[in-house]
This record gives sequence, C-alpha cells and structure tokens, in this order.
Amino acid sequence: MIHAKITGTGSYLPGAPVTNNDLIRRGINTSDEWIITRTGIRSRHFAAPDETTSALALVAARRAIESAGCSADDIDLIIVATSTPDFIFPSTATLVQAGLGIHNGGAAFDVQAVCCGFVYGLTVAEKFIRSGSHKRALVIGAEVFSRILDWDDRSTCVLFGDGAGAIILEAANQPGIRATALHADGHQHKLLWVPGNVSGGKVTGDPFLRMDGQAVFKFAVKVLGDVAQEVTDSAGVPHDSIDWLIPHQANIRIIQSTAKRLKLPSEKIVLTVDSHGNTSAASVPLALDCAVRDGRVRPGQRIVVEGVGGGFTWGAALFDF
Ligand code: UT7
Repeated sequence: MIHAKITGTGSYLPGAPVTNNDLIRRGINTSDEWIITRTGIRSRHFAAPDETTSALALVAARRAIESAGCSADDIDLIIVATSTPDFIFPSTATLVQAGLGIHNGGAAFDVQAVCCGFVYGLTVAEKFIRSGSHKRALVIGAEVFSRILDWDDRSTCVLFGDGAGAIILEAANQPGIRATALHADGHQHKLLWVPGNVSGGKVTGDPFLRMDGQAVFKFAVKVLGDVAQEVTDSAGVPHDSIDWLIPHQANIRIIQSTAKRLKLPSEKIVLTVDSHGNTSAASVPLALDCAVRDGRVRPGQRIVVEGVGGGFTWGAALFDF
C-alpha cells in the first residue's frame, strides 16, 4: 500500500512586520486594544507592490525542497492554493514550476478554496500519491490578500496579511497522512466573498473582500470543531494522541473555542495569528513550518491541520509527521 508523507516544509513572510499601531499611523480608524482583544492579531506582513503570489510561493517552495533534501526536478506535481493568483491564467502553480526550473512535464495547477485552500491542496495531492500516479508533490498556500482589502473598511482590513507556506508530500511505505475530510456549502457564499470580476476590460462588481464577521465566526467555530472530530474518528485515534492542532489562523477566539470543544489544552495549539494575521490559504502551512523550525513539531508527532474559508469551504487532515 502506498502512503503519503510530509518530508519537508518551508515558508516566507514578505517585508517587516506591520503592527496595529502602524495601521493607525496609515490612517485606519482602529485601536491596538480592539484588534488584540477581538482577534489576537498584533502584526502582519504585506508584500511590496511588485511582489506577486508566485514570488512568495517560490521562496517558500525552495525552502521546503531544501528541507526535504530533494531536487526540484524530483517534483512531479505542484498544487498552489490561492485566491490571489498573479493572473487570471495561467495558474500560479505553472509559474512556480517555471521559477523552480522544472522541465519534467509534471502536473501543475491551482486550487481555489480560499482559507481552506491548503487543506484542499494537501488532500488532492495525497490522493494523487496514494493512487501511484505521482511520487512527489509540492503543495503551497500563498496569498497577497493586501491587494483585495478595502482600506476604508476597518472591520476587514485589520485582519489579513500576506505570506506563503509549502510542503513536500512523498510516496512512503508508512503513514503519513491518516485521514482527511473536505466539505463545502455554496449556499452561504455571500457571507465571505470578493464579488467582482473582470469583463470587457473593466472590473465589474466589487473587487474587495466583504465579510459578515459574526456569521463567519459562528460558522467557523462549529465546523472546525466538527471536522477535527471527523478526522480523529476516521483515523481511529484518540484525542490525547494528538500532539499538535494547527488550525487556520483567523482569530484567536475561534481557535480557543475549537480547542475547548476538542478538549485540547492550549499548549497543544500552534498559534501564529498574533504575528501573521489571517494569511488565508498560507496560514496553515506557514504555522506548520514555523513550528517545525522552532522545534515544537518533531518527526513522529501526530498533527491535525484544519481550515475554513469563503464558499464556505472547510476541511481537516490528520497525519504523523
Ligand atoms: O479566514 C476566514 C475566516 N474569517 C474569520 O474567521 C473572521 C471571523 N470573524 C471575526 O473574527 C470577528 O467577527 C471580527 C474580528 C471580524 C469582528 O469581531 P466582533 O467581535 O464580531 O465585532 P463586531 O463585528 O460585532 O463589531 C463590534 C464593534 C462595532 O462597533 P459598534 O457597532 O458595536 O459600536 C464595529 O464598528 O466593533 C467595531 N469595529 C471596530 N472597532 C475598532 C469593527 N472593526 C473595528 C476595528 N477597530 N478595526
């Protein structure tokens, strides 16, 4: 039986941290106290005007490849999860393939599941590898959400940041990924969306992120608890065998409520929302890589990653690292 195992991680945050007080100095009508108490966010990073999603993704990818000890040409599948691609087409994944100098004709495509995009990408890659069709995947979550924020809407613009996280997923004899679950409910897409498009050479509709924060909050707490339970049940492992929960980093209060529902102590949660903000599809792989590099996440440990985002989409994966 072929399993799929994570063998390398990497990430990248552009520029210097931008604190809540920096946002106030830029003219946003908010306070450090409001942002910290309502969200847990203290700072975030923003890409430079000429820095694209593929540029962030490439740095994270190179770091993941180095940590896996493979060469770029060994990668036969690239999946980039993003809602802020460089172009309408081609996919950001093909730009990453070219940037890495890969000429092996492997598959490369994007997935669009907003803040749950990395969990979707990881799950798709796992299925490719377990089928035997592909041997080594590069899965990336990368975003420049700063480009789709309305700086006159203080209820959203303080929440998000830019960044990229990546993993290498390889065929292995031992697990690896033990369970995954993906879900969507398109009936609620208007609660979190960017309701614009390009047509006839012009933006039609609204090109900025719009969110009903309280409705998203309630939905996120429910589904993140449910889906973590679902993968734990489907892997047939007890809660207390989980070493780390790495949830989507949107709001510390959502994360704490999820941990409480799962009866997981706070020492088992990887938190980066304070210094990254919500980086959408990049948030989970960024948090994973931070925890690997600072020595919290170690080989052999059992991890649950989970996400929820616009669509709505939500999902989780349970794996032995
Ligand atoms: O990644 C996808 C998932 N996204 C999320 O998970 C986000 C989920 N939602 C949330 O995290 C929270 O709902 C928010 C952080 C967005 C908002 O927190 P809240 O506790 O739900 O606040 P609220 O929307 O109820 O707003 C409360 C007050 C309002 O003032 P009044 O009407 O009570 O006087 C807002 O005008 O806070 C005000 N407010 C702000 N004040 C200072 C809203 N944004 C700000 C701000 N600074 N930036």
